[in-house]
Amino acid sequence: MQIEIAKGAGFCFGVERAIELARKAAEDYGEVYTLGALIHNTQVTDSLAEAGIRIAETAEDARGKTLIIRSHGVPESTERHAREVCARVIDATCPFVKKIHKIVSEQTQGKVIVLGDSAHPETIGIIGHSSVPAFACTDMEEIRGLFDSGAISKDESAALVSTTTFDRGRFLEYSQRLREENSRVSIYDTICSATSERQKNSEELAQRAGMMIVVGGRSSSNTRKLADICSRHCTTVWVESAAELSKQSFAGLQPDTLIGITAGASTPCQSYMEVLQMSEEIITTNENEEDFASLLEQSFRRVYKNNRVTATVVAINKNEAVVELGTKQTGYIPLEELTNDPNAQVSDVVSVGDEIEAIVTSVDDSNGVIMLSKKRVDAAIGMEKLAAAYNAGETLEGVVVSDVKGGIIVITNGTRVFIPASQTGVPRSGKLSDLVKKTVSYKIIEINEQRGRVVGSIKQANKEVRDAERAKFWETIEVGMKFEGEVRSIEDYGVFVDIGPVDGLVRTTDLTWNRVGHPKDIVKEGDKINVIVKSVDLDRKRVSLSAKDPEDNPWTKFVAEYAKGDIIKATIVSITDFGAFAQIIPGVDGLIHISQISTERVTNIASVLSVGQEVDVKIIDIEEEKNRVSLSIKALMEEAAPADDAE
Ligand code: F3S
Repeated sequence: MQIEIAKGAGFCFGVERAIELARKAAEDYGEVYTLGALIHNTQVTDSLAEAGIRIAETAEDARGKTLIIRSHGVPESTERHAREVCARVIDATCPFVKKIHKIVSEQTQGKVIVLGDSAHPETIGIIGHSSVPAFACTDMEEIRGLFDSGAISKDESAALVSTTTFDRGRFLEYSQRLREENSRVSIYDTICSATSERQKNSEELAQRAGMMIVVGGRSSSNTRKLADICSRHCTTVWVESAAELSKQSFAGLQPDTLIGITAGASTPCQSYMEVLQMSEEIITTNENEEDFASLLEQSFRRVYKNNRVTATVVAINKNEAVVELGTKQTGYIPLEELTNDPNAQVSDVVSVGDEIEAIVTSVDDSNGVIMLSKKRVDAAIGMEKLAAAYNAGETLEGVVVSDVKGGIIVITNGTRVFIPASQTGVPRSGKLSDLVKKTVSYKIIEINEQRGRVVGSIKQANKEVRDAERAKFWETIEVGMKFEGEVRSIEDYGVFVDIGPVDGLVRTTDLTWNRVGHPKDIVKEGDKINVIVKSVDLDRKRVSLSAKDPEDNPWTKFVAEYAKGDIIKATIVSITDFGAFAQIIPGVDGLIHISQISTERVTNIASVLSVGQEVDVKIIDIEEEKNRVSLSIKALMEEAAPADDAE
């Protein structure tokens, strides 16, 4: 067997430069900190720690010390803060990343779209340098969501940049589609050539090889990408170090098989040279042995990539489910392939003993490992169900798993449904993230089974519910029904009160039993008030309400306690041309007609009485059915007159 190392494998220029700067800083200043891990490789991180280079989570952790900004870069505000609190800041941001910072900081109008994972430090750094609002997107669906939701208006300019390690093929595809759909988008190709060269060379080698060994940290996204690319062409093994290789790793390979080795951007040369050495040793030993086990293996049932299989869950780990397929190999379903819900645990989805259907995503005969995806089967079944629900006009339910730029993602039947922000019912000032983990009802408004695209609308589902509630309301509403409502708006003539499906009008005179100047004097928007239905106009769909509780009717109290002929005290509340009104009890005013004010002739009432003045009056008439009371001061004066004469 031959072994070949891919051109450009391992450390890229930017990472190498950052490590050199860190080592130099440690020599010059002793204790230094990097803002986050400098590199996703355990061996390198350990050796850096030995050299006195430690990891700080925030600039505060390195207060008063030397801080190194790693090759991913950071937002401008983070760098500014670091310079305020740290003794010195050494900027090891890769020059290719710096170039993107410059592009986005020079935008003077419109918006910026960054192709990259919103949680990746490089994406965060780029957004933090933009002089205009910037949005991270990972696919065309999210980009379209920005335009659909109005986050970027159609006639507004936008700049498209990508993170340095974004897949070039997808970048070109999205750029092309954006050009076709929106002429005001400027496209900047900011993918790092080191990454694309490494990917290209590794792919070229994988096409010729029978097996590829990809060397790099498990959390390194560019190493994952390399493993993905290589696995499209041949059996691919991903290892962090040579220690993970065994005789099994190379079992079943033909004597003339070419083995390729490549390594991620954060893998030091030493690591993949150790892998090379270990591979040579194992192959030499293998070639001298009769591999009886491999003959046996051939007699077992085999499965192939993209097979849909039935598997039994035999164990559950933190990040994966282990399944039995009736073959020699063990099957693994990583958590991210079990479900689309990023918040779910493995045990939320499957239990030991469950029989499930899954799709084979890769078969690694050398390690006896089969990787599977349950969510792909669920998505296919789910898509069928969603299409049926769409055709039937059904309302669906789903859990919101994340908020993305331009909308939210809901999972129903294991399928992702995109709901644009404008269809969520959340106001522009609200936060879409408040919906995450909540169950929502929605209608499907667009579905494309081939492209796996489903678009939903919570607003439409809510509207249907409201329409149904309104119809029921008008069927059942009756005069005398009571509601607790909320004051929606205040007008000069009354207030509109939300009583559920509709708003009703409470006229000013129906707000209280007392006199009211303006409705604003007694209620404000948002107040909760109890109301009774006074009248219903079914044709015009209008309902009149009263906030006056009949049990508190002051007239009932008045007629029970007062009678014609009573002499009482009353307070003048208003003066008119024909007399003065005086309050007897709250809600009941009596009229002192101008002719009943005095035994003398009164021409100017205001010269005799004033608002707020308390007067003794006699009740001279009560018209109960008209709620009218007539009062007289003159009657008391006349009654008092004979006594005066007697003196
Ligand atoms: Fe820089 Fe490219 Fe490496 S952007 S950090 S040289 S992958």
